Amino acid sequence: MSRSFVVLGGSGDLTGRLLLPSLARLYDTGVLPEGSELLAVAQEEWDDDAYRSWARDRLAAHAGDLSRETHERLVDRLRYVQGDVTDAADLRAALARVDGEPVVYLALPHTLFRPTLTALAEVGLPEGARVVVEKPFGADQADARALNELLHRLLPEEAVFRVDHFLAKQTVLNILGLRFANRVFEPIWNAAHVERVDIVADETLGLEGRAGYYDQAGALRDMVQNHLLQLLAIVAMEPPLAVDAHSLPARKADVLRAVQPPADVRTGSVRGRYTAGTAAGRALPRYADEEGVDPARQTETYAEVTVTVDNWRWAGVPFRLRTGKALGADRQEIVVRFRPVPHLPFLDAEPEPDLLRLSLSPDAIALEVNLNGAGDPFDLEREVLAARLAPHDLPAYGLLLRELLDGDTTLSISDVEAEESWRIVEPVLAAWAASEVPLLDYPAGSAGPAA
Ligand code: BG6
Repeated sequence: MSRSFVVLGGSGDLTGRLLLPSLARLYDTGVLPEGSELLAVAQEEWDDDAYRSWARDRLAAHAGDLSRETHERLVDRLRYVQGDVTDAADLRAALARVDGEPVVYLALPHTLFRPTLTALAEVGLPEGARVVVEKPFGADQADARALNELLHRLLPEEAVFRVDHFLAKQTVLNILGLRFANRVFEPIWNAAHVERVDIVADETLGLEGRAGYYDQAGALRDMVQNHLLQLLAIVAMEPPLAVDAHSLPARKADVLRAVQPPADVRTGSVRGRYTAGTAAGRALPRYADEEGVDPARQTETYAEVTVTVDNWRWAGVPFRLRTGKALGADRQEIVVRFRPVPHLPFLDAEPEPDLLRLSLSPDAIALEVNLNGAGDPFDLEREVLAARLAPHDLPAYGLLLRELLDGDTTLSISDVEAEESWRIVEPVLAAWAASEVPLLDYPAGSAGPAA
């Protein structure tokens, strides 16, 4: 059976930057069946030709490694309909134009999810349909609950894909291999041996013209509530019975239930906003002066939150989640810091404890250990045991779309996980909204707020 994609928000940044290039790749590798079609729905007064010419530009910009013929094979399949995605009549008309079992993709800002799903619930979907919802999954826990209710009115949970592309990153998948296909790590993967865990996603990029979305979201909703808590879940969860759609989301949900926000948000979180500066060689204006930003919203571009995982395995171990835009260096990694050895039989040595670095960009795993050096036989030196991981043949979005086409929800976020993640960040959001935590300035290109 051919699948038709109905992309709501078909002229948006996400569609042009990530979806179309990934779909072109899936055509190229034969994953997307020949008869599949893509109908884009958006506000612009375009026809099919105007849409195709926009799509050609986007493919040239974001899938330059694929041939023109490959681009054209996808472009030939694209159709466009102008419509309001929150209007039931427009959605009904759009759905009537596609054959087969539709995959309805909400490539929209999170503020539009609720009115769109409300309209979609009024129209209904044929059997075999699937719905894909982007991140962040709503604006808070109440919104996430309302979205889940609407989705469950439309389709069974197995037909719902809540996207988090971090789950399809090579290193993240490799954490599963490292932890559960080897004997050496799991016995020391607990509070008796691990002192702390840092989960970091620092970016040199600034707002990049995304004010319409980002100024409503901020760093906590954009990165922490979804990507960083998913990384935490993969690192901290109990071993699943199998890596499948039943066990993986269930084990992640279990561990998220155990995560507690900081007891005192004033000491357990930091929020910041960049000022003018130069990050990775590019001059950036003050965030508050970026086009489309409402300075009164006090949107943060840097968020740091330290949580605990209150269960048998992790009690007492801090997990620090940190992310920011316009920082001095790109760094996406999880650092597991082990406790010092109980007795050190080397005189005058104070070596650093072992560190395991799981780097997401580039994909690499490195274990920093202490070994005997070349000079005095009993001197210690720091050595790194490292593995550079071969990239997956599909980028993260391509891999997720392939899973989606297979109907496999192993890498999708479940309803419970989505709501639990909001429970964790909600007290932080509330304290920040009430200005209980100061919004600190940091110059673009710096290491972040000097807290
Ligand atoms: C997106 C966020 O989900 O993830 C962006 O909206 C962020 O703000 C991006 O830049 C980071 O993902 P990646 O794959 O580029 O590291």
